[in-house]
Amino acid sequence: MDFFNSLLNFIVPPASMVMLAFSWPTLSFIHGLEWVFRSIYKEKMEDKVVLITGASSAIGEQIAYEYAKRKANLVLVARREHRLRGIRDNARLLGAKTVLIMAADVVKEDECRRFVGDTISYFGHLDHLVNTASLGHTFYFDEAQDTTVFPHLMDINFWGNVYPTYVSLPYLRQSQGRIVVNASVESWMPMPRMSLYASAKAAVISFYETLRFEVRDDVGITIATHGWIGSEMSSGRFMLEEGAEMQWKEEREVPLSGHHVEEFAKMIVTGACRGDAYVKYPSWCDTFLLYRVFSPDVLNWTFHLLFANHSARKASLTRPSRPLLEGPPPQKLLPAPPNVQYQQRG
Ligand SMILES: NC(=O)c1ccc[n+]([C@@H]2O[C@H](COP(=O)([O-])OP(=O)(O)OC[C@H]3O[C@@H](n4cnc5c(N)ncnc54)[C@H](OP(=O)(O)O)[C@@H]3O)[C@@H](O)[C@H]2O)c1
Repeated sequence: MDFFNSLLNFIVPPASMVMLAFSWPTLSFIHGLEWVFRSIYKEKMEDKVVLITGASSAIGEQIAYEYAKRKANLVLVARREHRLRGIRDNARLLGAKTVLIMAADVVKEDECRRFVGDTISYFGHLDHLVNTASLGHTFYFDEAQDTTVFPHLMDINFWGNVYPTYVSLPYLRQSQGRIVVNASVESWMPMPRMSLYASAKAAVISFYETLRFEVRDDVGITIATHGWIGSEMSSGRFMLEEGAEMQWKEEREVPLSGHHVEEFAKMIVTGACRGDAYVKYPSWCDTFLLYRVFSPDVLNWTFHLLFANHSARKASLTRPSRPLLEGPPPQKLLPAPPNVQYQQRG
C-alpha cells in the first residue's frame, strides 16, 4: 500500500498538471459561454422574497439596497432594530415592494424559526436567503483574556449561518431558491489577529461546499469571498483583546465607509442573480492559493516577514485600542413616501 501511494505521489501531481494545462483553455471557453448564457437569462428579482441577516450595516445593508433596486420584497434581520428602520425606508425608496424588519439574534435557533416563519406567513414563500451576520476580532490568540468569547465568535460566524439556513432550506427547496453566503479570504490566507474568525469562515466554506452537493439543483449556493473592503468591521466594530469586549453596543456604533462596500454588494447580488457559485473580490487574492498548494513555504515566509515581528504585533492591521465611538444612523436617501409600512417586531 505504501509503495502504491508513493507511486501515485510521483505520478499524479505532474500528470494532473499536464492535463490541466491542456484542458484549461477549453474549460475556460465553456465557462465563458455559460457565463454569457446565465447573464442573459439571469434571475429577475421583481416580487421575489429575500431574507437578509446582518442587514443593519455595511455589506448586509448595501445588499438590501441592491435587491431593492431589483424590486424584490425584503425581510431585514439584525439585532439593532433602530438601524433596520432607516434601512427599510431607504430600501423602499430604492424600489423594494414590501420591506419587513425583524429584530433577532441569528445564534438562537428559535429566533431563526420565528423570523423565517413570519416571512413565510406574510409572503407565502422565500426565494433568497443572504447570510451576512458576523463578528470579527483583533486579538492575538495567546493574548485573549476570556475564553468565553471563543465559542461566541464561532456562534455568530458559523452557527449564525447554519441556523437560518437549516430553517429556510425546506422553503428554498420549494421555490428552487438560493443561499448567499459571506466568507472571507482569511479562511485560507493567514492573517494575524484573526485566528478564530478565519477558522469560522473556513468552516462556513466547508459547510456550504458540502451542502451544495446535498441540495444539488434544488437550491443554488453563492459563496462570496472577499478581502478587506471597509465596513463596521474594518472601522472598529470588533471584539478586542482587552477584556474581550463586545463592540456591538449602541454607543460603539461607527460610520460606514461606502464605495467598496457598495461595489461589492452589487457584485454579490449580480452574481447571485446570475447563478454564480462564487463571487470573489478582489480576485487577485486567488493567486496566493497556488502558492498555498505548490509552495506553502513562500507564503509562510512572506506573511512572517509582513506580520510576525513585535512592532506588527503592536501596530494592528486594524486598531489596537478602542475604536471610534458614536456614529450616525443610516443615511436617509430621500424623505419616505407616506404609503403602507409593515413592521414585524421580535
Ligand atoms: N468588511 C470586510 O472587510 C469583510 C471582509 C471579509 C469578509 N467579510 C464578511 O462579510 C460579511 C459582512 O461583513 P460586514 O463588514 O458588513 O460586517 P459588519 O458591518 O460588522 O456587520 C455585521 C452584521 O451582522 C449583524 N449581526 C452580528 N451578530 C448578529 C447576531 N447574533 N444576530 C443577528 N445579527 C447579527 C450586525 O447587526 P446587529 O449588531 O444589529 O445585530 C451587522 O448587521 C460578514 O460575513 C464578514 O465576515 C467582510
